[in-house]
Amino acid sequence: MQSYRSAGLHVATIMDGNGRWATQRGLPRCAGHKAGIRSVREIIETAPDLGVGTLTLFAFSSDNWRRPKAEIDTLFGLLGRYLRTEVAQFADNGVRLTAIGRRDRLPRGLAAGIAQAERKTAEGRRLHVRVALDYSARDAILRAVKAAPDPHALTVETLSTLLGDAEACPDVDLLIRTSGEQRLSDFLLWECAYAELYFTPCLWPDFGASQFALAIDAFHGRDRRFGGLAPVPAVGVANVRSSAPVAGAALQPPSPSHRPEFLMPAVGE
Ligand code: FPP
Repeated sequence: MQSYRSAGLHVATIMDGNGRWATQRGLPRCAGHKAGIRSVREIIETAPDLGVGTLTLFAFSSDNWRRPKAEIDTLFGLLGRYLRTEVAQFADNGVRLTAIGRRDRLPRGLAAGIAQAERKTAEGRRLHVRVALDYSARDAILRAVKAAPDPHALTVETLSTLLGDAEACPDVDLLIRTSGEQRLSDFLLWECAYAELYFTPCLWPDFGASQFALAIDAFHGRDRRFGGLAPVPAVGVANVRSSAPVAGAALQPPSPSHRPEFLMPAVGE
């Protein structure tokens, strides 16, 4: 098991609206996916400077198999080409790339491209980019539980580790969904337990560095209480929220040993 943990915020994005962006311009839907890659590039470039340590991108959901084969083939072709052309730059810039989701149903060439990108960028420590492909959170949770040596001994930590492909992936701090839709669509359901949700009408191909910075700003304006109470400023002391929080130093949830459910006997004990 690896012990790597990325520092900084974990931001997850549902990159929605490629098709509508293309249709509005009288273009085929695939032109929207192509344009969406430009946004991905921009977000990855900007993320470390905005205090983001982990970025999970929803590129293809397990429900997306319902789309026409031609669109799926084009999307996979674009992803494969993207990996081949950008991997050297990722390695040079300290970006680590991994994939989550099922690999057994992906085209063999794409699966090989992912494995190669994972090998070549394994040392990256500036930013961890996780691409979710043939991904379903429910399926991932089911598979993780089934893979547990003893499902009755599972804890929040061990299940989180199993879900991160044997690597403790930090919980999502901020979930962004573009295109005006406001749902999770089976994305990172476990990891988003305390995520701040940010919905924007902006279509994904129009979501660039400045939109990303706005989302991060909005995140820093939220009160994250994790079920506790907001800190009460002492009388005469300036509002504690008036100073900008240090990126990546957001309030963390209590450690599991302090959560009441960990003090209670497991069912059946
Ligand atoms: C949803 O928009 C988008 C997708 C299903 C694909 C997302 C893929 C990319 C942005 C391509 C590149 C990704 C990486 C990681 C390099 P939609 O097609 O559902 O749009 P619509 O709702 O307007 O139809």
